[in-house]
Amino acid sequence: MKIGVIGTGQFARSFISLWQKHPDVEAIYACDLVPERAKEHQEKYDLAGTFADVEEMLASDVDSVAVMTQRWTHGSLVLQALEAGKNVYSAVPMAITVDEIKAIIDKVTETGLIYMMGETSYYNPAVVWARGKVAEGAFGRVFYAEGDYVHDMDNGFYAAYRYSGGDDWKKTASYPPMLYPTHAIGGVLGALPTYATSVSCIGIHDDRGDGVFDKDVSLWGNDFSNMSALFGLADGGAMRTNEFRRVGYWRGHESRFRFYGTDSVMEQTGQGATWSIKTEGEDYRKGDTLDISDLFYTRNAQVPEGFGDVDPALMQSFASGTAKVQDRSRLPKEFEGAHNGHEGSHHFLADDFVRAVTTKTQPPVNAWKAARFTLPGVIALESARQGGARLPIPDFGDGPENPAW
Ligand SMILES: NC(=O)c1ccc[n+]([C@@H]2O[C@H](COP(=O)([O-])OP(=O)(O)OC[C@H]3O[C@@H](n4cnc5c(N)ncnc54)[C@H](O)[C@@H]3O)[C@@H](O)[C@H]2O)c1
Repeated sequence: MKIGVIGTGQFARSFISLWQKHPDVEAIYACDLVPERAKEHQEKYDLAGTFADVEEMLASDVDSVAVMTQRWTHGSLVLQALEAGKNVYSAVPMAITVDEIKAIIDKVTETGLIYMMGETSYYNPAVVWARGKVAEGAFGRVFYAEGDYVHDMDNGFYAAYRYSGGDDWKKTASYPPMLYPTHAIGGVLGALPTYATSVSCIGIHDDRGDGVFDKDVSLWGNDFSNMSALFGLADGGAMRTNEFRRVGYWRGHESRFRFYGTDSVMEQTGQGATWSIKTEGEDYRKGDTLDISDLFYTRNAQVPEGFGDVDPALMQSFASGTAKVQDRSRLPKEFEGAHNGHEGSHHFLADDFVRAVTTKTQPPVNAWKAARFTLPGVIALESARQGGARLPIPDFGDGPENPAW
């Protein structure tokens, strides 16, 4: 396959350099609104070429594109690419409105093209583990689960938004936390075979007063910097997520998950995880609590030079190897020893997209799954704007059955 990468900012390099190693990828091209960035990537990663803009790339013979542009820009670019007959890999989130999400699902249905959203939490070690335990029935009935994405603005985001937004950066640094919900929701619903049907969300108004999260400056009129949402699920259970951008939390699992079942409970914190198991019968003293932190540990790798160069704080995202629970046997051998990222997920994501396109199979996080990871956040923001009103969440169905990759 030939991949055209749209947007070569801070994040694209990690996937470009993995696809460059993948045996089924023939050529990679790049384009960026800032042409020097595309050029720099071409030289550094020895790419096949660059294009002046998206239109020129879509008119070329690349069969697939990867949309790696800013968070709020994905919907229209993805639609443009699908209309041009290209398979699409999209960075998260899928889009930021219900209409855009529906249009992408309609287009994928109509064209049969591959669409994949690159949700890192789907391959987060705690989620991989929980998915397996749910499938085995080890939790009993999971009636409640939590997923949080906790990333303080002072932890690299000021520099990242400055790089991303130029002189006007404060306008977009106020990006509403619930419009970036997939690292939290995608972890819970990446393990549980259900989806969200309603939400009530509380938004916490920012009070730092530095022009970021200021309603008059924000492109979205947004002043919520921390948000907490409670969702009703289709199976009758509940899910809670936190999206925090002002939080005195330094380092560890930025995304963390907790699953409460009738037979056992897994609780992950920023630094570790436990699994509490109830025994048969009535004697609770025979239960067990296991420390399973070690299974999820990935901070065992060096960051390659040039990664996270916008702010050293962001480098931790790339400093991950592979956790014990992540099965590497399915990955191309060329990925052995290559840099990884976001708790060992990048290798799986890069390979998933190539597998999906080359086998013409919708990937695990296809358009329908991506909608279920993204839409709940879009409606949660609306709920917060209405003072926490409980609102219904539209659903576009299961889509094709997920492959067991
Ligand atoms: N854990 C994760 O999954 C994770 C982590 C980091 C970033 N991301 C996602 O990756 C995406 C990129 O993040 P980033 O930090 O690299 O952003 P960035 O702002 O550093 O880079 C985006 C680049 O896209 C370019 N661009 C924008 N519109 C374009 C267009 N129409 N045509 C060509 N180029 C265009 C910009 O000029 C910029 O260079 C974001 O959507 C973000 O949500 C995901």
